[in-house]
This record gives sequence, C-alpha cells and structure tokens, in this order.
Amino acid sequence: MSLMSRGKGPHSGHEGQAIAVENIVKKYGDFEAVKGVTFDVKEGEIFGLLGPNGAGKSTLIRMMTTLIPITSGKAFIAGYDVSENADAARRTMGVIPQAMTSDIDLTIEENMSIYAKLYGVPKAERERNINELLEAVDLTKWRDAQVKTLSGGMRRRAEIARGLVHNPRIFFLDEPTTGLDPVSRVAVWEMLNTLKSRRQLTILITTHYMDEADRLCDRIAIVDHGNLVALDTPMALKMSVPGNNVVEAQFVHAPEGWVEKLKALPGVESVQDQGGHMFRLLTSTGSQTTTGLVELAVQDGVEIKTLMVQNTSLDDVFVHYTGRQLRDEQVKALGYVMPPRPGMQP
Ligand SMILES: Nc1ncnc2c1ncn2[C@@H]1O[C@H](COP(=O)(O)OP(=O)(O)OP(=O)(O)O)[C@@H](O)[C@H]1O
Ligand SMILES: [Mg+2]
Repeated sequence: MSLMSRGKGPHSGHEGQAIAVENIVKKYGDFEAVKGVTFDVKEGEIFGLLGPNGAGKSTLIRMMTTLIPITSGKAFIAGYDVSENADAARRTMGVIPQAMTSDIDLTIEENMSIYAKLYGVPKAERERNINELLEAVDLTKWRDAQVKTLSGGMRRRAEIARGLVHNPRIFFLDEPTTGLDPVSRVAVWEMLNTLKSRRQLTILITTHYMDEADRLCDRIAIVDHGNLVALDTPMALKMSVPGNNVVEAQFVHAPEGWVEKLKALPGVESVQDQGGHMFRLLTSTGSQTTTGLVELAVQDGVEIKTLMVQNTSLDDVFVHYTGRQLRDEQVKALGYVMPPRPGMQP
C-alpha cells in the first residue's frame, strides 16, 4: 500500500473490522477525558461500552463519529480513517447521540425525510426506506404525529429509525434506553435486534443497564476514568471475577443450627439469614453447593420451598473493575457533584 492511500480507502488493514480504535486520546485543556484506548469491533457485532458517568463513553463515540477532533491516536470506521476521510466514514455510520436531537415540532416522517435529504438519499429509495423503518420500529401509524406528542419510548424508536434512513452499516447509540420504562427498554432492544439482522448492522452501544448489556451484547468494554479496564464477552468477563455464585434457598422451616449446616456445604463462603427461612449463600461452586444443599435437606427432612442459583452478574464484574456500583441515580449524582479533575480520582 502506498503512503498516499494509507487511511484513504476502506482497506487500511482493517478488513472484517467495522470499527478500529488505536491508542485514541482526547484532551480538553490539561484534562484527559480519554487516555489512550484501543479496541476493535468486528462486522456484525453488538459491542457494549460501559462505564460510570464521566468515564469517557460519549467522548469516545464523538471521536469515532467525527463530531469532535481526536487529540492523538486513530479511529477507523469501515476502514476509513475518521480524521483523514471524515465524509466517507460518515456515510457508513448512523449516530444516535445521548441527547435527543429530533425537531419536536416536526412529524416523525418530516424528521426522517430531512435527514435522508441531508445524506442525499434519492427520493424513491428515501420513501421506501422510511416506510420500512417506520414499520420496523412499529411507528407506521404515528408517522404524521409531531415528535413532541410522543412518549419517551416512541421518540427513541423514532430516532433509531431516523438514524438508519441513509442505510448505514455501523450504528452508534449513546444510551438509547436511559430514562425509559422497562417495557419500552425491551421494545427498543427488540427493534435493534430485528434491524441488526435485517440490515446486517454492526452496533456500538452505551448503556447503564447491566442486564441489557449482558443479554444483548456480543462483547463488552468497560471504561473508567478514560481508560479501558476490561474487554471480553459477557460470559468471559463474569468468569474473570473471583468466584462468587449465589445460591438462594427458602425452606418451609429451618431447624436449630441450620445456618451452621449450610455454612459447612461445599464451596460456601458465607451465609446470610434473610428472614422467613430464606438464606443467601455465597459460594465458589454453585453446582456443588446446590447438590449438597438438596442432599442435606432430604437427609434432615427439611422441605425446600424455593431454590435459585445465580451466576456472577455483570454488576459484580462492574464493581470488580471500577470499584463502583452502577446504580443509575447514585452514579448520576456523583458525576454531577464531583466531575473528575486532572490527577484526581473521584
Ligand atoms: N467539552 C468538554 N470540555 C471539557 N470537559 C469535557 C467536555 N466534554 C466532556 N468532558 C469531560 O470528559 C469526561 C468524559 O465525559 P463523557 O461525556 O465522555 O462521559 P460519559 O462516560 O459519556 O458519561 P455519562 O455516563 O454521564 O454520559 C467527563 O469528565 C466530562 O466532564
Ligand atoms: Mg455519555
């Protein structure tokens, strides 16, 4: 490859990769919001970017999507270097920023149409695409409704449809489900999954909902204070955290000395009596503990009412890598009260 062509075309040594980020840095004055992050996203992947408020997720997305300049390092989207070939890169990507960006006085269809025109989508294709997308996000009936009359969930779905109106291959979504009720969150994810398979999309998404990320992302990157602190499949991330399966059992009655017997089961590290004959066992081997517990109950004639074995959750992973729990309200409050300053660990 000649020097001239380096980074100009979609063949910059990143074939098969939708996104490649190399040692990317963002500085605001002296403050480093992103401190040299490297990762890549394969074509067709759903890639989750997780991190507490102020971690640098939106800054990363803004750099990858050409909205702000990169201080140093490189980002390639569909093989195009975003710093050298921003227009070509932009045509391959759809972006739903963290803040809503629809014009609320216009209808859903008008919003989509303006966007499509901006991207130079020809009229016939524009109409077909708008129809298809509105159907995919279940808003066909609402196409002529002003955006301001819609619920939060519907607005989000309308934005998703708008973000795809120029047929991008790579879709960036910054917290598309924040603030939505659980039913609307599920609806948004179902739609993303449908659109992903229909349109062969690669998706990079940020969320504060661990359960969503766990179920829906192929791989997850955790960022904290501008650094990448973990990157793997949800399963591998959970396995990387020192063993803490949880076995929760409720009994019809609990005889004298029951806690001690539970503590003696294989793998058990601690037992919490939660009242109502309900016990929570932290264990290094959920399966052996469960087997032991059932045997013990049969032996002692204690009836089991409910029994639940849980793997380590992504919440545990998050706490392990960032030292913080990602409860939305709690973290949001922290982010605003103490914005991280240079050299300061909040
Ligand atoms: N324009 C700016 N000027 C100065 N600092 C900024 C600017 N934009 C972002 N920052 C800082 O960069 C850091 C990363 O911000 P960013 O918005 O990327 O975080 P985030 O991970 O998206 O957080 P959230 O979960 O709250 O959306 C924060 O400390 C933020 O205050
Ligand atoms: Mg953000």
